[in-house]
Amino acid sequence: MSGFYVTTPIYYVNAEPHLGHAYTTIVGDALSRWHRLLGDDVMYLTGTDEHGLKIRQAADAAGQTPQAFCDTIAPKFADAWTRLNITNDDFIRTTEPRHYAAVEELLQRCYDAGDIELDTYSGKYCVACEEYFTDEELLEDGLCPIHKRPVDHFEEENYFFRLSRFQDRLLKWYDEHPGVIKPEFRGNEALGLIRGGLRDFSVSRTSLDWGIPLPWDERHVAYVWFDALTNYLSATGFGDPSVDYTNRWPVDYHLIGKDIIRHHCVYWPAMLMSAGVDLPKGWAVGGWLLVDGEKMAKSTGNVVNPLDLIDVVGVDGFRYYVLAETSYGSDGDFSFEGLVGRYNSDLANNLGNLAARVATVVGKKCDGVGPAPRSDSPLAEAAANAVAGATSGWDAVAPSRALDATWGLIKATNAYLETNEPWKSEPGAEVNAVMGDALEALRIITILASPAVPQTSELIWQRLGLSGSVTDQRIPSDVEWGGYTGGAPVEKGTPLFPRIAS
Ligand code: MSP
Repeated sequence: MSGFYVTTPIYYVNAEPHLGHAYTTIVGDALSRWHRLLGDDVMYLTGTDEHGLKIRQAADAAGQTPQAFCDTIAPKFADAWTRLNITNDDFIRTTEPRHYAAVEELLQRCYDAGDIELDTYSGKYCVACEEYFTDEELLEDGLCPIHKRPVDHFEEENYFFRLSRFQDRLLKWYDEHPGVIKPEFRGNEALGLIRGGLRDFSVSRTSLDWGIPLPWDERHVAYVWFDALTNYLSATGFGDPSVDYTNRWPVDYHLIGKDIIRHHCVYWPAMLMSAGVDLPKGWAVGGWLLVDGEKMAKSTGNVVNPLDLIDVVGVDGFRYYVLAETSYGSDGDFSFEGLVGRYNSDLANNLGNLAARVATVVGKKCDGVGPAPRSDSPLAEAAANAVAGATSGWDAVAPSRALDATWGLIKATNAYLETNEPWKSEPGAEVNAVMGDALEALRIITILASPAVPQTSELIWQRLGLSGSVTDQRIPSDVEWGGYTGGAPVEKGTPLFPRIAS
């Protein structure tokens, strides 16, 4: 069994979970579920980023200590992920002792390697980004290019990570590991940042106490990005001498948004090189979900609460929309009309209709018991294509492609039924053959669709009278044509996806 370790960014607790957070977390969940179907030993990590000035200020504004403030918000993320049926194997908080141990270990290693040195910083800082900017990087009116807000002037003694020493090493490494950043155009963005020249970055603050003290100089706390990135190691047991962190590390994929490429694809690998830790096997960079053309964020005020949308389209409806609508890597436009439109077309009219139709006809023409498929069914090829397309889509961390391939089989099966019109025929061998084929296709569809729509898939699985659970199935062996042998009672049940008036 091979291991598969995948992470989301850890989310700042200054805001409650919103659609932008849910997006990456659902992609990670679906990818994890796919890998469990492949039989991999999956570790899916998410969590919360709780230190730094931004959180300190949010806690002050709420009139709470930072720790108390974090303790009220972090569970809201965990609860949101439970409601969205997210199967994370761990949830890391940067205020946990195991994380302190890992950050201290990583800092010390970089310091001992001579890559962290004391210097003075003077310049502009955006608190929302937790990032310094040069004058050239700011907008013409001096505002932060991401948040379009004023920046602060900072001057203080900081320890610096000598990133400038890593340009050649990073370029060489990326050259030797083509395709590690997906999709390719996002990898090119990272290379562009490295080629453009690397500035040392500060890894400590003295003006702030809400953070992890440097092991060799307690007057300083670790810069929040150094602290945050290390979470991916903390969860493997790095920093705990009794654990072999390489059982999990290196990570297979860091899922990130395009706004944090610099931190993950430039800072992080350099930090790991300095510390003598292996580099990640992959990064998968998503675009932004835009609402009215703007990134959804607390600072722009266009926050959509994902949990409100569940009430309209259900958990699976929401998950499916997020995964299918946007090609991962590119920006996507979120709209309520788009959400309802996809639900009605792909879920109500396609998947829901197929499941209902199959059960109805089996009920009326086959005494409610599923007949066996034909081994030379005309649908067998469509099923093989769907399996191949879904496999290559998930392999490329391209959920929309994987689902498109899966829905190709749903459409082919509906078309097959429309051509054969078994509902018009007398019961007998011909109807049995057609319905056996449709049932087998639906069984395979149910497995392939389960990473996106897990609850619905499980329900269809049970209604088809199949044994065990859909999550026990393995790809490719259980998605080969002919796995369904017939003879099980098929239950119709209530509509899976009732149409929503738009
Ligand atoms: N705490 C840092 C990440 C540290 S990881 C070591 C952070 N947190 S965040 O909560 O602001 O954002 C986390 C991720 O959510 C980012 O990658 C960001 O791109 C993503 N999203 C936030 N809003 C988004 C959208 N509107 N659309 C898609 N993803 C966006 O940055």
